[in-house]
Amino acid sequence: MAEQYDVIVIGGGPGGYVCAIRAAQLGMKVACVEKRGTLGGTCLNVGCIPSKALLQSSENYHALLHGFAAHGVMAKEVSFDLPKMMGHKDEVVGANVKGVEFLFKKNKITWIKGVASFKSAGSVTVGDKEYAAKHIVIATGSESVPLQGVEVDEKSIVTSTGAIALESVPKHLVVIGGGYIGLELGSVWRRLGAEVTVVEFLDRLVPTMDGEIATAFQKILVKSGVKFKLGTKVTGAVKTGSGVSLTLEPAKGGSAETLDADVVLVAIGRRAHTEALGLDAVGVAIDERGRVKTDGHFATNIPGIYAIGDVIAGPMLAHKAEEEGVALAELLAGQAGHVNYGAIPGVVYTWPEVASVGKTEEELKAEGAAYKVGKFPFMANGRARAMGDTDGFVKILADRTTDKLLGVHIIGPDAGTMIAELVLAIEFGASAEDIARTSHAHPTLNEAVKEAAMAVDGWAIHI
Ligand code: FAD
Ligand code: NAI
Repeated sequence: MAEQYDVIVIGGGPGGYVCAIRAAQLGMKVACVEKRGTLGGTCLNVGCIPSKALLQSSENYHALLHGFAAHGVMAKEVSFDLPKMMGHKDEVVGANVKGVEFLFKKNKITWIKGVASFKSAGSVTVGDKEYAAKHIVIATGSESVPLQGVEVDEKSIVTSTGAIALESVPKHLVVIGGGYIGLELGSVWRRLGAEVTVVEFLDRLVPTMDGEIATAFQKILVKSGVKFKLGTKVTGAVKTGSGVSLTLEPAKGGSAETLDADVVLVAIGRRAHTEALGLDAVGVAIDERGRVKTDGHFATNIPGIYAIGDVIAGPMLAHKAEEEGVALAELLAGQAGHVNYGAIPGVVYTWPEVASVGKTEEELKAEGAAYKVGKFPFMANGRARAMGDTDGFVKILADRTTDKLLGVHIIGPDAGTMIAELVLAIEFGASAEDIARTSHAHPTLNEAVKEAAMAVDGWAIHI
């Protein structure tokens, strides 16, 4: 007889583990199947958390080397210890994944270790055991997209997983793909001394980002020493004795060139991970990009089977997966679970950071929307000056008639923390004037947000 649960979640990442905890909180008997030796998924093990640990460590080093002298703080013989930096990263990952295991115990969730495959609509097999549930949730996440002709060995040609575990600083790191991963991990190794060249297929960085912000972002990265080859594709890679020789071609056609690297990071996007699930056997439909198809309430075409997180449509972000996990558990408990996809922030954790919520100016133009723009530079913000971090600006897009916030884009120090105010504002349907007339503590970076909101109607005070 199969062990019986109310809910079985397949995948212990931010989508899956949060869904499992919320379902348990709501009184359901829950199991979560995870094949990795630890819980937490891509995010905690090889994604968000380790990359942010390395971003912080490398930023600390970089600030000590280049930024502190301007504050009158001198350090002689600044150096770094890469194994120690990696050790710190591993400790942070270890504490986080153990934390999820503790939360599972606290909420009486059974962790079934192994690979789950569907046996029927209401049951899965893991190893030689069968488990049944009224509701089964697919939360199997994503994996990096391979690039034809550039074979990953996680040593000299790496994905993000290899790039967060390099044993030495490469002399020349070539990053294929100027998106989230390429720019974050490219920044880590640049700060630690690598020459970094980003090869991007399009003629701009991070295609989902507001264009004006992306241009400013590129300029700042160039200032930090990152080189870019935009409008360029990699068509082949040959391993040489000392590294890799890449063949590059202009995206729109033209003559090829070669570029030599010690290490190549392939970061051209991620794709839904459904391998081994046996979706065909139960008839779960997938879309043209291999993602599990769901309705507006996370239900697949097969009754009793649901899907959340990176494996379904939408931005591949941990907090999006978490929101979906909570909403689905609440729906399964008969409550009104809901995710507002118009209020999911996106943050690139470089320095300065880039953060956004809502529509980009390009999207508004394409929709033919009537909008107004307010901008404010950190150069005119007292706190940013005190910090010595004056690069960047806040850009607010509001409806021309109603003044309702449509999108906010920030490039600047701690932009990822600052964006929370704007996400809440959009959740509450706020106008630019609501932000402009809200008292913001002085002197804070957030005053730049207030001033940008004032600038929407032309009355910013400090510029
Ligand atoms: P995942 O976290 O991928 O978890 C899925 C889990 O399912 C995995 O542990 C996998 O082992 C397991 N699994 C798969 N198939 C089976 C099976 N058949 N049986 C059992 N288990 C299975 N997002 C952010 O919001 N902020 C960031 O700063 C950020 N940084 C990132 C940095 C990097 C380098 C990467 C790669 C990603 C980053 N992301 C970030 C994205 C984030 O990691 C994902 O959006 C998030 O992990 C998705 O959660 P998920 O639960 O859908 O899937
Ligand atoms: P991405 O989608 O962010 O960027 C991929 C880039 O590669 C794009 O700019 C694309 O135009 C380019 N590209 C595609 N094919 C190419 C080719 N053949 N040659 C050159 N360039 C090519 O994907 P990335 O960086 O791999 O990250 C995957 C996802 O992981 C992100 O989209 C994001 O959802 C998530 N992530 C989130 C982070 C965060 O929230 N801070 C950090 C890291 C990852």
